[in-house]
Parts: sequence; structure tokens; C-alpha cells
Amino acid sequence: MIDSHCHLAGEEFAADLPDVIARAHAAGVTEAVCIVAAGDTGEQERAGRVRALWPTVRFATGIHPHQAGAFSGDVAAALAMVEREIGTMDACAIGEIGLDYHYDFSPRDAQQEVFAAQVRLARARGLPVVVHTREATADTFRILRGEGGGALRGVFHCFTGDRAMALDAEALGFHVSFAGILTFPRAGELREAAAAVALERLLVETDSPYLAPVPHRGQRNEPAFVVRVLETLADLRAASAAEMGTQVTANFVALFGK
Ligand code: NI
Repeated sequence: MIDSHCHLAGEEFAADLPDVIARAHAAGVTEAVCIVAAGDTGEQERAGRVRALWPTVRFATGIHPHQAGAFSGDVAAALAMVEREIGTMDACAIGEIGLDYHYDFSPRDAQQEVFAAQVRLARARGLPVVVHTREATADTFRILRGEGGGALRGVFHCFTGDRAMALDAEALGFHVSFAGILTFPRAGELREAAAAVALERLLVETDSPYLAPVPHRGQRNEPAFVVRVLETLADLRAASAAEMGTQVTANFVALFGK
């Protein structure tokens, strides 16, 4: 079982990281992708500790849309930094990157500029992208199609769209990753989307420390809880949790490599 997206190098885990990792192992979570914000030296240092304690964890790094405003003046320098940190971390993907028009913490033109540049970098480097998109569907697809040139691979992380958007993501060649929201009582539309995506494009994640699934809702989330997301997804697809675990693990390897 794999948690395809977590923020294990976040400050929220600094005090009890060994316990968090022990619980993940006990729950059968053998691998994870740990997202590290490019340019965040504190998080990078903590990522070193994550790697030491959990050697099979992989890393992804990139400039989040919330931080894009700080880099808009000199995208070339920002890209050089991302590229350097990909090397330092031996990153398996560029992310999370994208557009967030819900919070609008960065001006939208800066978000688009920084996102598009990182998509071009991913395409040039042959790396998948981990996409964060919120209330920005049309611009997200426009940039992925335009800059990706049909050759780009990646995942819509913590997917919150509807069935039509999920099928658009699939048509683009992307994977669709579901998080704890899938377990929330009022997430009927999201479960419809999860029921519609091709089996070989499904992924599961925690996005921990955020968005803990039922019955942990409101607590700090952690990689062990990805099992709850997997069970919900298995129910939706009339599969056993073991079958779905095998499926999403194969999907993960297909996207991020072995
Ligand atoms: Ni995230």
C-alpha cells in the first residue's frame, strides 16, 4: 500500500516522526511520496530525516501556487532553483504545482507563469507532475495541454472535481488521486467521479497532515490513514481492499517508476 502524496517533512510531524512512520508500516503502508516545497530550507532539512527513517519514501518538489507570487519576477531563477533541488532530492516528480483561485494567495498571472514554466521543465526532464488545482479547471487544462504537448504525465492530486473533470484528466493521460474527502458523508459527487475513472488511473493519498478521512476527521492526518481511503475506493469499485491495494500500487509504479 502506498500513500501517493503526503507532507511528512512538515513541521506538524517534527515531534513524533518515528511514531508516525511506525504506524504507517504497521498499517501496511510501505512507500509514500513526500512533497517538499522548493525553496523551503526547513522542510528540506526535515526531508533528510524522513529519508533516514523511511528509506523507501520518494520525494517531489516544486513551487506551489500559493508561493508563485514570490517567484514571478524571475521565473528563470525559480526554475534553476527547482531543477537544482530535484537533483539534490533525487525527486521522482515535480510538484505540487498548479493553480489555486480559491485562496488566490498569489496573483493569477504569476500562478500561471510559474505553473507553465514548471510544466515545461517536467516535459524537458521527462518527469511526471503532481498537480494542485482549485477553482481553476479551465486554465489548468489549458496549461497542461499547451505546455505538456501531449507528452506529459502526471496526477491530479487530492482530486475534488466532478465526473466530467475526472474523465478529462484521464483523456489527458493523467492519473487521478483521491484523498480523505472521498470518505466524507456529503462527497457523493466525488464518489461518482471515483467510480468513473479507469481502474489503471486511480491513486490514493492522504495529503497529510490535512484532510483526515472518516473516522479521524478533524485530527492531524498521517500516512497510515490512507487505508481508509483505499477501503472506500474499493467499496465503490466492488473490489476487495487487497485487490484495490494491488491495483493502485501498480498504478503508482506506472506513473512514478519502480
Ligand atoms: Ni499536498
